Amino acid sequence: MPETDNHGASIELENLTKRYPGSPQPAVDDVNMEIKAGEVVVFVGPSGCGKSTTLKMINRLIEPTGGRIRIDGEDVTDIDPVKLRRNVGYAIQSAGLFPHMTVAQNIGLVPRMIGWSKSRISARVEELLDLVGLDPGEFHGRYPRQLSGGQQQRVGVARALAADPPVLLMDEPFGAVDPITRDHLQDELIRLQHELHKTIVFVTHDFDEAIKIGDRIAVLRERSHIAQFDTPEAILTNPADDFVSGFVGAGAALKRLNLTRVRDVEITEYPTVTVDDPLQEIFNRLRSSGTNEILLLDKRGRPYKWLRRGDLMRARGSLARAGTLVNDTVTRDATLRDALEAVLTDNAGRVVVTGRRGEYTGVVDMETLMNSVHELLEADRLEALEAQHDLEGSRTDRTHAEQEGDGGETTA
Ligand SMILES: Nc1ncnc2c1ncn2[C@@H]1O[C@H](COP(=O)(O)OP(=O)(O)O)[C@@H](O)[C@H]1O
Ligand SMILES: [Mg+2]
Repeated sequence: MPETDNHGASIELENLTKRYPGSPQPAVDDVNMEIKAGEVVVFVGPSGCGKSTTLKMINRLIEPTGGRIRIDGEDVTDIDPVKLRRNVGYAIQSAGLFPHMTVAQNIGLVPRMIGWSKSRISARVEELLDLVGLDPGEFHGRYPRQLSGGQQQRVGVARALAADPPVLLMDEPFGAVDPITRDHLQDELIRLQHELHKTIVFVTHDFDEAIKIGDRIAVLRERSHIAQFDTPEAILTNPADDFVSGFVGAGAALKRLNLTRVRDVEITEYPTVTVDDPLQEIFNRLRSSGTNEILLLDKRGRPYKWLRRGDLMRARGSLARAGTLVNDTVTRDATLRDALEAVLTDNAGRVVVTGRRGEYTGVVDMETLMNSVHELLEADRLEALEAQHDLEGSRTDRTHAEQEGDGGETTA
């Protein structure tokens, strides 16, 4: 995977304000915020609270009526907006692809505008399609109408990344796709960010999405006032006020599951065979594995079917009708919540974990998940105890210092 050098840039919003003509109240009122380079910040808040207006002021699709915007320390409030937008990728709901352009033309839009050569653009398009998980050969010549909603959204992300901008703005980019596709797109974005380290500002009205994607979350109330700006863990365990608690909603403990990924827990090795293995070999492997079940992989190493002993007996020499199709998998970037969902709906209580190209990497089962959740909760409990202990400790220190009457100069 080519690692880009164009890592994220910091963003500072200073007294940022937007008054739309004819509105008595500002839509965005005096927002101050510092976003670190390489960080994913999610704006979450109710509809109409000013999320999109705030976001679009960062690349000046909407011109602020007050305040400053700084990117990597440079004041960009008054620079040529076209120049600004070269450094700020932008992806929106429903992808916003141009229907009369092919996928390749859509992705190549910004590079073309800034005068890249044909060969450089076409190499970049291939690279980006691969990056967002679409086969370049299959997709580059297609038109948007020939793509599913999820595929269009991937192309939209590729287009936003085309000129390798340090900053990526995303306005409810996955709002228009079905929940399963959305889950996959979220996982993909997380994986991408692991490779790219962009600064991403992501808008959503879905708190669960915010928890899953954000390094930090800004919970916004009306006129884009910041109710709380902190890590997902801090917001879940310590919401600033009733407005934030209302937004976090019920089940904060379960939402903790959104904060741990499959890659952080133990993934079990499972006996596997491939469709190219002779049936006798499959029998032997199953017998020597000591399990009742074996995973059949396709020619490209992707999970295909679960095979039990009985299935093989009934197969009578052909694998075509034997076994149960693997119909759900999770990636290593999936949350434990996704994994739990998959395990709970699987009749044998396990789910296959796959790599970048869908290849088998292991299995997660109920027992592993239960153990991980217990560890998670235990760690939380210890942390809370330590925090309390520190607090009491500092109180005791102060008392000692006062007793010794030396103005607190003693070392601990
Ligand atoms: N072009 C516009 N002209 C006037 N008012 C607008 C315009 N765009 C948005 N608004 C108003 O600004 C407020 C914030 O809108 P918006 O930023 O789109 O909210 P959100 O993205 O959080 O749903 C809303 O009250 C909306 O009606
Ligand atoms: Mg909006």
